[in-house]
Amino acid sequence: MPTDPVLVVHGGAWAIPDDVVDAHIRGVTNALAAGWRVLERGGSSLDAVEEAVVIMEDDETFDAGRGSFLNRDGKVQLDALIMDGATLRAGGVGCVEHLRNPVRAARKILSESPHVYFVGEGAEKFAAEHGIPLCKNEDLVIPREVERLRQYQSEAAQRDLSQSDSGQVGKELFAPAADDPTISLDTVGAVALDRDGNIAAATSTGGTLNKAPGRLGDSSLIGCGCYADNESAAASTTGWGEPIMKLVLAKWTADRIAAGNLPEWAAQEAMSYLKQRVNGHGGIIVLNREGHIGIAHNTPRMAWAYRTFKKQDAGIVRES
Ligand code: GLY
Repeated sequence: MPTDPVLVVHGGAWAIPDDVVDAHIRGVTNALAAGWRVLERGGSSLDAVEEAVVIMEDDETFDAGRGSFLNRDGKVQLDALIMDGATLRAGGVGCVEHLRNPVRAARKILSESPHVYFVGEGAEKFAAEHGIPLCKNEDLVIPREVERLRQYQSEAAQRDLSQSDSGQVGKELFAPAADDPTISLDTVGAVALDRDGNIAAATSTGGTLNKAPGRLGDSSLIGCGCYADNESAAASTTGWGEPIMKLVLAKWTADRIAAGNLPEWAAQEAMSYLKQRVNGHGGIIVLNREGHIGIAHNTPRMAWAYRTFKKQDAGIVRES
């Protein structure tokens, strides 16, 4: 018997300011519509999460694709992962600078490569060889982010100057406040269940503001920013990557569901664990094969949306 499809998306967990709340809600709702079009015509969960994430990569509201945060050198450097719960096949790209939609390259890796992960130039070469056009890095950079980086670096330089008396010269430029839940982190992701009862997940990000070139976050790492296994759950996380990586948080959450817990409980537990164990901040969306969902964050706000045949909702705060 066919399963009723379910789709959940997120567009970042932080203190989303009031003036960009509408853009966030609109962005996740558009992503939801694109993914749902795939699911309602009987398409796969894998196609649905890819299409949903592409919409958010194309939306400058989010830290993914064009409009992402800039690294320390003023470049956009992107990471993405997609994973199929039916087969455990996965495709990931890291530190790519010339792809508008890194999730499309990740999907090509999943579908057409014996490998799971490509980084940098190798990832871009693979993408180009498989029909994905490359772009200039400047095509991904927008004025808002140039100004954000300029302001961040000038404030950090001021702080470093004032700390130089205490012998802490230069630390700030390389160490943004990972434990601050208000810092902007608009990583995007999606989890889906299709009519065949298969689940999938995808996550895409520009990473953190002023990151060191070559820094890879959690988003594209299997089990950290994204995970999918029909025997447990599909999960996508958002938030400061280093703490999430240390806990392999998406897999940790899926394991709780495999042990018999509901996604709603597991998502809440994951956020408590993230805070208590490593003082991490972020959010998570989770979905199992029975269509139960979990949406949780330990930041002031998180952009989320979900849809089933019976219900559709979106918001920026998820009450437990
Ligand atoms: N979660 C996004 C990053 O830290 O790269």
